Amino acid sequence: MTATVTERAAAKVNLWLEVLGRRPDGYHELETVMHEVDLEDLVELSRRRDSSTLVVEGAAIAADESNLAFKALRALEAKVGRSLPTALRLVKRIPAGGGLGGGSSDAAAVLRGLVRLHDLDLGPEELEEVAAGFGSDTAFFVRGGTAMCRGRGERLEALEPPSPLDLVLVLPGLHVPTPAVFRALELTVRSRQPYDFLTALRANDPIELRARLFNRLEEPARKLHPELGRILDHLAAERAILSGSGSTIFCLCASGDEAEALAGRVHGECGLETRVVVSARR
Ligand code: C5P
Repeated sequence: MTATVTERAAAKVNLWLEVLGRRPDGYHELETVMHEVDLEDLVELSRRRDSSTLVVEGAAIAADESNLAFKALRALEAKVGRSLPTALRLVKRIPAGGGLGGGSSDAAAVLRGLVRLHDLDLGPEELEEVAAGFGSDTAFFVRGGTAMCRGRGERLEALEPPSPLDLVLVLPGLHVPTPAVFRALELTVRSRQPYDFLTALRANDPIELRARLFNRLEEPARKLHPELGRILDHLAAERAILSGSGSTIFCLCASGDEAEALAGRVHGECGLETRVVVSARR
């Protein structure tokens, strides 16, 4: 019987994000392309006899039932109708509150790990359904890769992964609360169609793709945090764009060398933390 399993939990960026409207349940109808990158948390799961526990290393994050990792465990216990006593250990490397989906990815990794640890007969579709019960972008991380996510974010359509993309993440170190960004959004303009973006994604041309990146939440995030606007304007020639509701900004580069050079330049000019990442491979 397996005693311990580990799962990698990758961060994502939103290559495309359009908000189609407000829903009666208070959420927003989205059309967003999420893409996993190789910045990862580590999730370790070990069997226990009685109650479950959670420890978090590498970040000051609540290690209690409010943590999405714990919510994932409780949701899966509800699904299978019995307790699954597990010691959860999260090793955080993905910055929290940065639009990179770290907490959601950890939660999906917990679901995958629990299936292996406790020999549960559940497939990815069932895990996605469980994941959608406690978050909007949690279902995506069950299988990850590249996907068009609609509805609240939980209706998934897998996309052919492009050749590995070279990206620079710029981390302004701001915590931007997602609900506030959605509240500040003015839904007056006609929504954009993703066809040209999807064509560029299929064509595997980073220069063409860079010109098609889009995030509707950038405008409200700029309003709430003028500092973000200043960084985005400074990097306008690089077509820098916000990921999710921020605060992470990213640039798509034509090569790894270009990404390394840009990361060094941004760090030197703006004093901001940067990371060079590539598309995650599963
Ligand atoms: O579902 P999740 O906890 O990730 O969402 C965080 C917040 O983001 C929600 O409370 C809501 O304010 C906003 N949101 C939204 N529409 C979505 C996803 C998130 O309004 N589709």
